[in-house]
Amino acid sequence: MEVILNRDSAEASRRAAALIAHEVRRKPDTVLGLATGSTPLQVYQNLIHIHREEGLSFAGVTTFNLDEYIGLGMDHPQSYHAYMREHLFRHLDLSPGKCHLPNGLAEHVPEECDRYEQRIRDAGGIDLQLLGLGADGHIGFNEPISSLASRTRIKTLTPRTREDNARFFERAEDVPHHVLTMGIGTILESRRIVLLAFGEAKAKAAANMIEGPLSASNPASALQMHPRVHVFLDEAAAGLLTRADYYRWVYEQKPDWQRTP
Ligand code: GLP
Repeated sequence: MEVILNRDSAEASRRAAALIAHEVRRKPDTVLGLATGSTPLQVYQNLIHIHREEGLSFAGVTTFNLDEYIGLGMDHPQSYHAYMREHLFRHLDLSPGKCHLPNGLAEHVPEECDRYEQRIRDAGGIDLQLLGLGADGHIGFNEPISSLASRTRIKTLTPRTREDNARFFERAEDVPHHVLTMGIGTILESRRIVLLAFGEAKAKAAANMIEGPLSASNPASALQMHPRVHVFLDEAAAGLLTRADYYRWVYEQKPDWQRTP
């Protein structure tokens, strides 16, 4: 796991966006895994800037989002479909037919989940997966005790996650109880993973993910099993790491050829 400590979320997001842009330049038909929540917003703003100012085209790119709320249609303002349209898709030259999210209104949930997994396979797998981190250590919506081998499926949100996400809804009780999410096994099959976490509220989850034991109690710790993960933290999210100085030193000493991106 490469741990990159940043002054602030702006620096972290610039670096993560540069890494993603580099991947798209290298492979114009890259398959990107995308995330929602407040954490990736600055990454998306940077990508939009790179698209506008440097002319980077996303026309060949395919995207797969991690998750969606069950019961929210794609036009519901709090759906992740709407989030992605608003914050990324409408600003880039992505082809709408190549942007995939799980269907929160699917009549038959297990079939929808199998279809989603199949679509990822048909696209050749995910080249680079962007992740945020839940305060309880979840990735996607894989709450604690999710199987580390899980695939796309229905999950029930913890009260903590519903509370954390209530700020996006008019009333706290409007937050759905159920979601569709890629599994941890699905995420681990991505060829490369970029995770961002900002703020003190993420410090414990970040420390558990990086330095804690591998455990389904801390779903993000499963990333320790992945050979190519880049973790971008701001100072507050790095606050509980015991080896922060070492990670800083490693990053500074890197030979140029090994630098991210
Ligand atoms: C939601 C999303 C996750 C995200 C997490 C953190 O639960 N499903 O993908 O990482 O929230 O959200 P935020 O970035 O707003 O802190």
